Amino acid sequence: MCGIVGYIGKRKAYPILIKGLHRLEYRGYDSAGVALINDHGQLNVYKAKGKVADLEQAVADKDTSGYIGIAHTRWATHGEPNQVNAHPHYSESEELAIIHNGIIENYIVLKKGLMQHGYTFKSDTDTEVLIQLIEYTKRTDNVDLKKAVQLALQQVVGAYAIAVLDRNNPTRIIAARQGSPLVIGIGKDEFFLASDATPIVEYTDQVVYVEDQEIVCLELGKDIEITTIHNVPKTPEIKKLEMTLSQLEKGGFPHFMLKEIFEQPRTLADSMRGRVNVDMNNIALSGFIDNKERFLKAPRIIITACGTSWHAGLIAKYAIEEFAHIPVEVEYSSEFRYRKPVINKDDVVIAISQSGETADTLAAIQLAKSKGAFIFSICNVIGASIPRVSDSGCYTHVGPEIGVASTKAFTGQVTALTMLAVCIGHAKGAIRYDKYLRIISELNLIPQKIAHILEQSDAIAEFAKTFIETQNALYLGRGYNYPVALEGALKLKEISYIHAEGYPAAEMKHGPIALITDQMPVVVVAPHCGTYEKIVSNIQEIKARQGRVIAVVTEGDKQVREMADFAITVPETEECLTPLLTVIPLQILAYHIAVVKGCDVDQPRNLAKSVTVE
Ligand code: G6P
Repeated sequence: MCGIVGYIGKRKAYPILIKGLHRLEYRGYDSAGVALINDHGQLNVYKAKGKVADLEQAVADKDTSGYIGIAHTRWATHGEPNQVNAHPHYSESEELAIIHNGIIENYIVLKKGLMQHGYTFKSDTDTEVLIQLIEYTKRTDNVDLKKAVQLALQQVVGAYAIAVLDRNNPTRIIAARQGSPLVIGIGKDEFFLASDATPIVEYTDQVVYVEDQEIVCLELGKDIEITTIHNVPKTPEIKKLEMTLSQLEKGGFPHFMLKEIFEQPRTLADSMRGRVNVDMNNIALSGFIDNKERFLKAPRIIITACGTSWHAGLIAKYAIEEFAHIPVEVEYSSEFRYRKPVINKDDVVIAISQSGETADTLAAIQLAKSKGAFIFSICNVIGASIPRVSDSGCYTHVGPEIGVASTKAFTGQVTALTMLAVCIGHAKGAIRYDKYLRIISELNLIPQKIAHILEQSDAIAEFAKTFIETQNALYLGRGYNYPVALEGALKLKEISYIHAEGYPAAEMKHGPIALITDQMPVVVVAPHCGTYEKIVSNIQEIKARQGRVIAVVTEGDKQVREMADFAITVPETEECLTPLLTVIPLQILAYHIAVVKGCDVDQPRNLAKSVTVE
């Protein structure tokens, strides 16, 4: 996590850096800082605890002149979030400054070595060790900054995206990447660098995605120059950015999360565009078509993901097993990568990641790849690390997701995975043709059905007021809607800080039932499905213990509605598609509860959107 941004060119650097930090704030927001070489050749570093707005306040009366600078918004790993540990970090002489996203794992050994050479440290961070090492190398080996960065990085174990400024060379930024994302924007007589393209999009659409082990030299009056950390020259591959500025703004909504919830009718149409064809009775996923044989011969599929993406993976298990008849295992990437999992070369591994940068998922892919498995990724951010290291994949195409709590990315993932499950099933002849046709026609109707559900937002907002004192909540679902219950609970705890647990409804009897009192809201996801009658019994068990039931039911439902204290309806659809509808009320409910409680919806405490550290 952490967001980094840099600029060198003909414009004033500070406003570009601050705007860039605001765009990257989703990556971490416990402290922020900026380093600028001003018009008098001084290298100034300004830092503040808190958000980028706090930094702006702290810098208000300072000299922010200069045309070259780097800036950082932090999600603390080493060292508590305070001003001293905030980036940028100076070197001992204060001639160099660095920003860093990632973790230097061997920083203690490096630090001890530097201390023996008389270096002192102001912060507790691993990053300060790296800049001191660069300066030490520059001096003792008498090399220029680029060479010093190369030599220093050869000694580093860990992950980084860094950018370094040198007071004595105010026309150059050196940047490098290993494991953490780094994008370079190329303008006319100017360069930008950032953790993702959002700070760059309004200035240029020409970008270079830096690869692992690469060092970039951005020097005024010269072309971008890339070498490996072992000094092998690389040819920069300039790509056109597929992102628009309006996608990054709130568009009249009070929060990004609400905007993203309301975007879902359009984003899901985008996910299906050119793929689901009702007139031709066809679903076509090019990443699948090009690798059909790999899927057809797979004895099993392993899905690996984290957080909300893992929940999407769990829904995919139900769909792939039902339609393609292939056994599916769903793994938390962080567990999978450190177990000794049995992976065979015929296995297909599906990695799911909104950001395409999650460190654990990336490592899980690398492990599976080393065993010869075929890697198919479902990602949202185009050109991110995970799609680049995968053999094939499918983008969700829901546009940038800024709210830290994932909403439209989740429904985009479920849509992509459902299309994939149905494609495999169809190619194998495992899915009945009438079912295949019904799913195609129902997928096509999902956007308008979601639009219909969104009309209940005001009623849900009103109901959310009853949660003001709530400390705990339980979410229950069965079958395809069990993962939806997990996702609903996650949404609530992430943004409203109410403790919430998701459970398969029938498992309630094995523990959570002990928690039920009239103080305990129980959200039950109960659309018309195969297990409907079973879930009715589960609701009776809750009501018998005075639990407060909030139910998500299919339009026209009477039985559950009568028992529930509050009901939200969703239109009828195919069972495998119900998660795309039932999750919407849960997203809206969590959002309004967080607003009622006065929480920071888009940037919940302690969280970050892109988890690029393990
Ligand atoms: C973080 C985010 C979640 C996300 C998870 C996995 O925890 O806050 O919203 O689901 O990372 O991220 P990914 O980008 O791999 O989907």
